[in-house]
Amino acid sequence: MKFFVDTAEITEIRELNDAGLVDGVTTNPSLIAKSGRDIVEVTKEICALVDGPVSAEVTAVDYAGMMREAAVLAKIADNVCIKLPLTLDGLKACKAIVSDGRQTNVTLCFSANQALLAAKAGATFVSPFIGRIDDIGWDGMDLIGEMRRIYDNYGFATQILAASIRTVNHVKDAALIGADAATIPPGVLRQLVKHPLTDKGLDSFLADWARSGQKIG
Ligand code: G3P
Repeated sequence: MKFFVDTAEITEIRELNDAGLVDGVTTNPSLIAKSGRDIVEVTKEICALVDGPVSAEVTAVDYAGMMREAAVLAKIADNVCIKLPLTLDGLKACKAIVSDGRQTNVTLCFSANQALLAAKAGATFVSPFIGRIDDIGWDGMDLIGEMRRIYDNYGFATQILAASIRTVNHVKDAALIGADAATIPPGVLRQLVKHPLTDKGLDSFLADWARSGQKIG
């Protein structure tokens, strides 16, 4: 399972990337706005840090505008993955951008039929927003399960990128159900390593070791 970090904060990306936890990065207009940075400048910096795909999202809602913005974003670096909304214009742009040899991430996916359309448009990644589905009292993980079955039924190469992840259990459940990748907020990514019994066990090993008076090397 690939781990993408869902942020435009350079310090966070650098730290997690140095720890070997980052296979790619996703951003969206809200995350760019939150960073307070210019989209082109910050995306360029992220692309220089991380080898994997870096999703940068168009903000136009019409096909021509999306294609214009995608051309600007694609010029930033070879690993920019163009992120497009799951609309008819977004799907049309996805098809055109993929046929130019560029990776795409079709975002704001909330139904299996939308996911089927994104796969048919040749999307590299499709992002089901599981947290936002949970927010309205449905089960986001059910959508990932349906997508997995549909993509496997037809051999679609589109990768399921679990998004709108809020908890460590979202990550575990997405992995169990077969998501290809998850885009994870930095705080949740850091929590994945934590277990109280690991800390307790380490404390007790270190206390015993100190009593032994030994040293390695
Ligand atoms: O990857 C999409 C993500 O940024 C949306 O997350 O928490 O705003 O629903 P959230």
